[in-house]
Amino acid sequence: MTSPTIESILQEKRTFAPPAEFAENARIKSMAEYRELYDRAAADPAAFWGELAEKELHWFEKWDKTLEWEPPVAKWFVGGKINLSYNCLDRHLTTWRKNKAALIWEGEPGDSRTLTYAQLHREVCQMANVLKQLGVKKGDVVGIYMPMIPEAAIAMLACARIGAPHSVVFGGFSAEALRDRLNDANAKLVITADGGFRKDAIVSLKIQVDKALENNAASSVDNVLVVERTKEKIHMEPGRDHWWHDLQQGASADCPAEEMDSEDMLFILYTSGSTGKPKGVVHTTAGYNLYTHVTTQWTFDLQETDVYWCTADVGWITGHSYIVYGPLSNGATSLMYEGAPRPSKPDAIWEIVEKYGVTIFYTAPTAIRAFIKAGEHLPKSRNLSSLRLLGTVGEPINPEAWMWYHKVIGGERCPIIDTWWQTETGGFMLTPLPGATATKPGSATHPFPGILADVVDLEGNSVEDNQGGYLVIKHPWPSMMRTVYGDFDRFRRSYWEHISPKDGQYFYFAGDGARRDEDGYFWVMGRVDDVINVAGHRLGTMEIESALVSHPAVAEAAVVGKPDEVKGQNVVAFVTLESDYTASDALEKELKQHVVDEIGAIARPGEIRFSDDLPKTRSGKIMRRLLRNLASGEEISGDTSTLQDRSVLDKLRGGA
Ligand code: WT7
Repeated sequence: MTSPTIESILQEKRTFAPPAEFAENARIKSMAEYRELYDRAAADPAAFWGELAEKELHWFEKWDKTLEWEPPVAKWFVGGKINLSYNCLDRHLTTWRKNKAALIWEGEPGDSRTLTYAQLHREVCQMANVLKQLGVKKGDVVGIYMPMIPEAAIAMLACARIGAPHSVVFGGFSAEALRDRLNDANAKLVITADGGFRKDAIVSLKIQVDKALENNAASSVDNVLVVERTKEKIHMEPGRDHWWHDLQQGASADCPAEEMDSEDMLFILYTSGSTGKPKGVVHTTAGYNLYTHVTTQWTFDLQETDVYWCTADVGWITGHSYIVYGPLSNGATSLMYEGAPRPSKPDAIWEIVEKYGVTIFYTAPTAIRAFIKAGEHLPKSRNLSSLRLLGTVGEPINPEAWMWYHKVIGGERCPIIDTWWQTETGGFMLTPLPGATATKPGSATHPFPGILADVVDLEGNSVEDNQGGYLVIKHPWPSMMRTVYGDFDRFRRSYWEHISPKDGQYFYFAGDGARRDEDGYFWVMGRVDDVINVAGHRLGTMEIESALVSHPAVAEAAVVGKPDEVKGQNVVAFVTLESDYTASDALEKELKQHVVDEIGAIARPGEIRFSDDLPKTRSGKIMRRLLRNLASGEEISGDTSTLQDRSVLDKLRGGA
């Protein structure tokens, strides 16, 4: 469990009503309006979504059946024909939005670029034609491994346009991690860049792609499309690698959007679970389009003149749903930033808000805590008066960080939306609606209309107010994941069997604990499985353990999270060594680097503790709960009677 402890948030009683001026002009203006929507949706979710689908999206052909639910298989808008790229681009071109900024991009070295809807449409069509020319067909998976440049969004939209599901791999993942993901998805082509700028350094991406593809007998990749960004020297493999700017030259800007079935796969996005192997979360076309469209519109209270900025990376679901698809489907202006606050320019973020007059700002608690550390003189020296709405996502936000965000960034006038959701849910599940919901610092408040959320025990019974339990969803929603790519059984086991179905009621559960207070507000407590959240990045402890064990020195490894002031959690690894190795600082360094090579810098352990043994149950299961206590320097809590050898604990404590 992460930052806010149940004790600290149980004491959190402050509430903040939506400011009157905000509510007056908002799309959803009052709690009464929210309740009306919520009740109507709950009474007949399919009818509710059907109505919105008709009103909000373009269809080549209308669907025959709104929902087919054979748990855990949901099909939405069955028989409908639709294209997400069409909904994000073409339909805006017949309106004044044609020349509205779709993407405003700010590069890390200070360069910038704005693409109107017409310009974005043109480049997407060109890239779609290039993909076709390179042999990509409807249904072929395309890997995308990119820095945060407009071509990342262009690549995603180009894939959606021709019906080639994309699998975006975060640019911070290592060659090894990239290889596993490309192989698992059977990717036919990879779109990448020579590199990207991150802070004051260059991140070389093409080199990682080369490594991922070399000596890879299982690879299905025939072509690599390379965008020039950093202009560093890279190897171009003849016949396999192609420069985007070369092929763009001859590419037609005419590429009609493919008519896709509602349930055609739109993308795969890998995420960590409680086993070693990341899961390929599969999302399909129409439901995802509708849900991200509606949640963007209502939750961000989108107005035509907004300059909307989500600071996530397109390599995560937040970037997919709320930088690219949700905002563009609504015809909004979405700002994209290549970098992160960097030592040489710690107020880069606030400078961008001022420069573009950002009105909606959406970031993660870990970033807010880093802003607090950098000092409030930085935001205070900028004009942030354009901001009207703030958002947060990724982990529970501690009330102190919420209050700072509210005061220092929001000038006490901007509502804050704390949005709880997951890669698997596609879009917001619990969130305030800013003109309607009174917020409480640290609470994601209420379910979005159409989302039947509950906090239950293992038998599926709702728990009492203020009792901890499992956060579940009791009815399918349009953007729910459809399967784990290539492993339907894992989908069923991972999400639908933790809480056993009863009387035809199925419970979607993806790993979070929560409680509901006496006013019906949800408080998400954090993961209750072997997943940890480091600086808003979701990491499987088993994944890091497998990486460690693949090093010849390591006999056994157990990874736990330790509370961290800025990152929320930090990775602590307990490691036992093979007999011919001895612990040393050099080996510690080497093992940390090994994890970086196997997964990526986001998984680098903050600490490695060597020990002769690990605490295990008599049946040989590592007791991570005890290791968590040790890592945090807490007293050992709970039952230790199943521990095989108590002296192990004393040794570990002594060595800590
Ligand atoms: C996990 C999902 C959804 C985009 C970012 C992460 C945690 C996410 C919140 C929040 C408390 C949150 C949960 C969830 N989480 N948002 N507002 N309050 N916890 O997506 O990588 O799929 O991670 O992030 O633990 O299960 P993800």
